[in-house]
Amino acid sequence: MTTPIPSPPSIPFLGHAAHMDREIPFRSFQLLADQYGEIYRLNILTRKAIVVNSYDLVNELSDDSKFYKTVPATLQEVRRALGDGLFTAFKEEPNWGIAHRLLMPTFGTLPVRDMFDDMLDIAEQLILKWERFGPTYTVDPAEDFTRLTFDTIALTAMTYRFNAFYSETAHPFTQAMGDFLAEAAVRVNRPSVVQALMRGTNAKYEQDIKTMADLADEIIAERKKNPIDKPDLLNRMLYHADPKTGEKLTDDNIRYNLLTFLVAGHETTSGTLTFALYHIVKNPEVLRKLREEVDEVLGDETITRNDLGRLKYNQAVIRETLRLNPPASFRTVAPLEDCVIGGGKYFVEKDVSIVINSWKMQCDPKVWGEDALLFKPERMMDGKFEQYPPNAWQPFGYGSRGCIGRALAIQEAQICLACIIQKFDFVMKDPSYELKLKQTMTVKPKDFYIHAVPRTDKIKRVPR
Ligand code: HEM
Repeated sequence: MTTPIPSPPSIPFLGHAAHMDREIPFRSFQLLADQYGEIYRLNILTRKAIVVNSYDLVNELSDDSKFYKTVPATLQEVRRALGDGLFTAFKEEPNWGIAHRLLMPTFGTLPVRDMFDDMLDIAEQLILKWERFGPTYTVDPAEDFTRLTFDTIALTAMTYRFNAFYSETAHPFTQAMGDFLAEAAVRVNRPSVVQALMRGTNAKYEQDIKTMADLADEIIAERKKNPIDKPDLLNRMLYHADPKTGEKLTDDNIRYNLLTFLVAGHETTSGTLTFALYHIVKNPEVLRKLREEVDEVLGDETITRNDLGRLKYNQAVIRETLRLNPPASFRTVAPLEDCVIGGGKYFVEKDVSIVINSWKMQCDPKVWGEDALLFKPERMMDGKFEQYPPNAWQPFGYGSRGCIGRALAIQEAQICLACIIQKFDFVMKDPSYELKLKQTMTVKPKDFYIHAVPRTDKIKRVPR
């Protein structure tokens, strides 16, 4: 006998739509998790989903031989621009395998080390901005980290400069992408008759998709006309073949993947950096330890790629941030066959969507203890990180559909964090600020502002 999966009371036709916070649906998912525990069932308009929140269930579902990644309604909308690129490809689409096998080697730790100079180039632009504007200027970290991550992924993936730090207004491409993603997220909840009547919105949506596609196509055409000798992701996609089938990617799929890297690679990493900075300013002891390490390893010298391995506390801060506040907090899987999960408790039909709530799961006291909600980088270092049970730390998803950009994101965040800690002290604009969230495709801090005050304490010079 299986146990019915609990579900909040629902309304005919709307299902549980009324339970959902319109601005931040994320919040409703967490409140329902507090109320219903390890698992609950939702039914929003015509969409049905099961949500799992505990370590044990997520661990059980992290199994590529029984569960596959599904592409939920919002991501299906995003496919209008990203097509069968890596992130939005359906499991049966062959281009996923070709692109995955072809690109995997370029995303490994060693090739990512070669992206160091590009990453530092952009981090130095951020430092320069904060230095020039001075200590009285109000910094919006979410915005500046988004400039940083967008410019970094464009430079490392396709050797293209958006120059976001040199312009007050967003680049037309960035604007189009932001507007497209925001509209994609809301249109899935609009009845189709209403959508059809929104002619202005629909025309803008189509135009945004075209703006993005046109720029990607221009970059591809320019590279073909004027090849460069650099192992960036674009060169890899243009000039290499799938080691298994020998097939090459089509220009359409290269465009989809360039856009995928820009979408998947900027909000997540900028959210991580913003959450990290929030914890740093809230926890003076964390800032003290970070600074001690950076002064010891870098002194007043510019960071080099060889320093990364020595910035252990810096790495622990990033890991702990990704545990407590994973910016991509939900992913969706479905069983390949009817199954029973939870140690024989819950029956789940084949192909039913199961939302994995990493935000909740990564605070499961069973793994992380009673202080799971506290920010403690110490639990992520000195060999402890490697000893947590499998899948307990899963901010980058799981298995073959896990994040291909993991090493890139961590290195980028490490460089940026080391550079800002080396140069600045931070003062919260509103000292009483407590974490508030905003949600787009990902979640990040809202209304969090700081002053970046250049450090005046003496930094010891490190002989190299
Ligand atoms: C997939 C998180 C940075 C590219 C994913 C997934 C997660 C994730 C959770 C799995 C999604 C799912 O199962 O539906 C993150 C986080 C990041 C980050 C937290 C930063 C801290 C990046 C960067 C790139 C990237 C910098 C740049 C290329 C991708 C791609 C996929 C993906 C292409 C799809 C992989 C596939 O299905 O084959 N990411 N990501 N991500 N990520 Fe990231």
